[in-house]
Amino acid sequence: MLAAGAGTRMKSDLAKVLHPILGRPLLGHVLASVLETDPENVVVVVGHQRDQVVDYLARDFPTVRTAVQAEQNGTGHAVRCALVGLAADGVEVGTAPVVVLAGDTPLLSSATLTDLVRTHAETHASVTVLSAELTDPFGYGRIVRDSDGGVLAIVEQKDATAEQTSIHEINSGMFAFNPQTLVDGLARLTTENSQGEEYLTDVLAIARQDGRAVSAHKAADSDEVHGINNRAQLAAATALLRDRINVEHMLAGVTIIDPTTAWIEPGASLTADAVIERNTSIDAASVVGAGAVIGPDTTLLGTTVEASAHVVRSHCDHAVIREGANVGPFSYLRPGADLGPAGKIGAFVEVKKSKIGAGSKVPHLSYVGDAEIGEGSNIGAGTIFANYDGEHKHPTIVGDYVRVGSDTILVAPVSVGDGAYTAAGSVLTEDVPAGAIGIGRERQVNVEGWVERRHPGSASAQAATAAADTVEEQSADD
Ligand code: UD1
Ligand code: CA
Repeated sequence: MLAAGAGTRMKSDLAKVLHPILGRPLLGHVLASVLETDPENVVVVVGHQRDQVVDYLARDFPTVRTAVQAEQNGTGHAVRCALVGLAADGVEVGTAPVVVLAGDTPLLSSATLTDLVRTHAETHASVTVLSAELTDPFGYGRIVRDSDGGVLAIVEQKDATAEQTSIHEINSGMFAFNPQTLVDGLARLTTENSQGEEYLTDVLAIARQDGRAVSAHKAADSDEVHGINNRAQLAAATALLRDRINVEHMLAGVTIIDPTTAWIEPGASLTADAVIERNTSIDAASVVGAGAVIGPDTTLLGTTVEASAHVVRSHCDHAVIREGANVGPFSYLRPGADLGPAGKIGAFVEVKKSKIGAGSKVPHLSYVGDAEIGEGSNIGAGTIFANYDGEHKHPTIVGDYVRVGSDTILVAPVSVGDGAYTAAGSVLTEDVPAGAIGIGRERQVNVEGWVERRHPGSASAQAATAAADTVEEQSADD
């Protein structure tokens, strides 16, 4: 796999092949398809920004080898570097075909790769190129055929005659080679072309001149061979991959209300009868159960949403939302948030590293951090779990069937026992025993007649006077 090029047109400090589409670098998409075909050896040729690429491969594809092409002298030179790298690892090319791919074609499927290798075997060819018919072939090498339709050569855009540029069958840059043909051809490449590079494509013409059989396998779906060279193509490929993934889910029984705004990464697990609403992103590590409704306007990252749960206009990062629970609108679940079956996290609630028991509710405007809440409890509007003393985080334990009054501040570490209540507006610094009510506030004092004395003649004072008169009249009537 060739991935040493500079990717100049991306205009980026990030290596081109590491630009992600749907959460996975371009190179990762191609490698995933390659590995599905169970190859004997995979070597990635790295050069430009190679440290980044090597680090990525070591992390996500540890079985893949790398070979260095220190200077990018063309695709033919790059393949030579691959063979040198393999030899240095003690891997000799045997008799099995060598497949050459590019690292920037993220839509390539393993089925197309398998078809390429099958055509190569069935036609007894020494080289088989994966070609495609494109309505706009500009920039690609063209497949030049003889009058019998046999493949003669590949001519680069920059080297093509006017007649050749009218050819719509293009070189995808992917090939299957008989190993001996490859080695012979690479040894005879020159740099006599407009780019002064060693073209891998010339191996095909050399084989043909030597009287060897050369064939082309035309890709059934030309979208698969698109190489990404700039960010517009990156976005276009992302949309194609999104559509492909969404169709798979829909055919498997998932409802996707608007497939153009449902961004589901490869690897995400969705069950039949899940419903994905508009503007929703679901990453590779997320799981959605049957009958769950996700969105609109929701992001799931590494989050599990169990059957029949609903998540509306919320951002959930490494959270678990259990069966039949409800989240949102407008809530933020951070890592470790675990909402029990039939539980509720309502509007404008932030939850971090907290377990909320079955049927318990945090309906409005709260922060819940480092907490454990039992079953059937209700956390009143505006409750804050004050878990941070400025240096350390502390836990809060809330039991079963607790009623936490609105605007309570639970200053951790603190606990509220089973069945306990807390008075609205309390600041609780001490544990509340089971069945007690915890009150942590001043008693209310009403100073009668204060407004009429302090703000005589004001609208408020007039309203107060009128109210007092009404009360007097009523008692007179009685
Ligand atoms: C190449 C083909 C062209 C084909 C097109 C398909 C040649 C001469 N041309 O052109 O016929 O239609 O791909 O996308 O092969 N690379 C290296 N080392 C190098 C040069 C390139 O590793 O020295 C890698 C690049 O990182 C990339 C791939 O090879 O992954 C293709 O290189 P690129 O420069 O994009 O080739 P094109 O000009 O597009
Ligand atoms: Ca290219």
